[in-house]
Amino acid sequence: MTLSSITSQSGSQSGSQSGAVILGLESSCDETAAAVVASDRRILSHRLATQEAIHRPFGGVVPENAARAHVDALIPLVEGALADAGLTLDRVDAIAATAGPGLIGGVMVGLVTAKALAMAAGKPLIAVNHLEGHALSPRLADPTLEFPYLLLLVSGGHCQLIEVLGVGQYRRLATTIDDAAGEAFDKTAKLLGLGIPGGPAVERTALLGDPKAVPLPRPLVGTADPHFSFAGLKSAVLRASQTGQWSAADLCASFQQAVIDCFIDRTRRALAATGRRPTALVVAGGVAANQAIRAALADLAASADLPFVAPPLWLCTDNGAMIGWAGAERFAAGMTDDLSVPARPRWPLDPAAETARGAGVKA
Ligand code: KG4
Ligand code: ZN
Repeated sequence: MTLSSITSQSGSQSGSQSGAVILGLESSCDETAAAVVASDRRILSHRLATQEAIHRPFGGVVPENAARAHVDALIPLVEGALADAGLTLDRVDAIAATAGPGLIGGVMVGLVTAKALAMAAGKPLIAVNHLEGHALSPRLADPTLEFPYLLLLVSGGHCQLIEVLGVGQYRRLATTIDDAAGEAFDKTAKLLGLGIPGGPAVERTALLGDPKAVPLPRPLVGTADPHFSFAGLKSAVLRASQTGQWSAADLCASFQQAVIDCFIDRTRRALAATGRRPTALVVAGGVAANQAIRAALADLAASADLPFVAPPLWLCTDNGAMIGWAGAERFAAGMTDDLSVPARPRWPLDPAAETARGAGVKA
């Protein structure tokens, strides 16, 4: 493929009648994705290539292999997304890409590709924080969702409670002091031999089990700060599995219930701590694709008399549309970036947030 094949020679006008059109690229972990999103929330196209088959033999994501796979996949996905949208690069208003946090090799592939496309087409570049992609994705799905909302952001790399005050304005109320929620799902799947991706496998297996069967801890539940901890829970599942006393289904159901109990207790505490009534309780990130978690959070929202917003499942796990949408929100706010913008392996959404006591290296 050559750049000219995605760059119209006709010099047609940019944008559309209905506002800006943004090309969004995602490559921070094990999904390569490209999407074209309009500022009026139309998803003109979205394409995704998962690396599951590449990583499965290793039981997890191998960063070097991930970066190489992003190189192979990204440009064909960009071509495909533009073709599906019926656009050439000249017609988009800006190019957005995840610039961190994430596996740095993959982040560099996406960001450098976006820089090259922006330079070649003379379009603005928007460096998107992957967490902001997740944080704003509910607004792509639900036009009525206004700031400020309370967000439980639960993914493979993060577990945070965030007050989303506006585009680029985040107040982190809590984070995990060790493992992320998705990481706990993935490790539980691995130790039970359920394969990858772990979260969906644990959810499926849990459907057949008893959530009360296995006594497991609820780390940090009841403590004053609404932080999370999942390392001890994962170890408890390991010890319980080694007794041979319980089925994988009971272990998964009990593990998932423990995670839900932690989410509910911590989110309830954060709701009490914000001091500002949010417009809604919102969940986003890959773990938000879990139906049992969504149902429990919906109940919590109802009991707090708040609307509950969760994006459709495909928008919870990593995708290009959420990066395109975050790009659209930033573009509308006049936030574009210089071509010198760096790729960042760590990039907290709320730089002012203090390190949680006992915290490891999570952003
Ligand atoms: O947001 P995401 O796609 O990538 C990151 O930014 O990390 O989240 C991926 C994580 C993985 O840990 C995966 O196991 C988890 O989300 N996940 C789930 C489910 N689907 C994906 N966890 C629990 N239940 C699910 N249905
Ligand atoms: Zn993600």
